[in-house]
Amino acid sequence: MYSDFTFSIIKPNAVRTGKTGPILAMINEGGFEIAAMRMVKLTIPQAESFYAVHKGKPFFEGLIEFMTSGPVVVMILQHENAVEQFRKLIGSTDPAKAEPGTIRKTFAVSVQMNAVHGSDSPENAIVEANFFFSAIERFH
Ligand code: RTP
Ligand code: MG
Repeated sequence: MYSDFTFSIIKPNAVRTGKTGPILAMINEGGFEIAAMRMVKLTIPQAESFYAVHKGKPFFEGLIEFMTSGPVVVMILQHENAVEQFRKLIGSTDPAKAEPGTIRKTFAVSVQMNAVHGSDSPENAIVEANFFFSAIERFH
């Protein structure tokens, strides 16, 4: 059992096209332990709050529209050095630049519809995990 964790979202395009199972399989094969998981459809205010750091950027509106377009799967994932290891497993934001064998290379269809989110720092992993899960919903 690892104490270090990251937060992840399987994004609407991937859920909609039946990729939840295959993505979870890659997460398991990558050695991550699922400490919490739920399917949820974000409201616009929730998505705006989650992605507040990108407010004002040209892609912000499209990102919010996309992230609220259907259900997503939110998860807390445990691993040694979890944030960095998970960013390696998912690959670059732009699937064209993602390395072969990464989740985004395999399942992303564009920069926006890039299949998964992974926290970009341990500090943000804590904030993001707390945004979606209470202590009673976390199993490690
Ligand atoms: P994420 O937060 O979703 O894990 O992705 P990331 O760290 O790799 O990328 P970030 O810079 O945080 O951007 C968040 C999400 O916004 C969309 N995006 N679109 N130029 C664009 O059209 C653009 N840039 C970013 C992507 O869905 C990205 O994952
Ligand atoms: Mg990010």
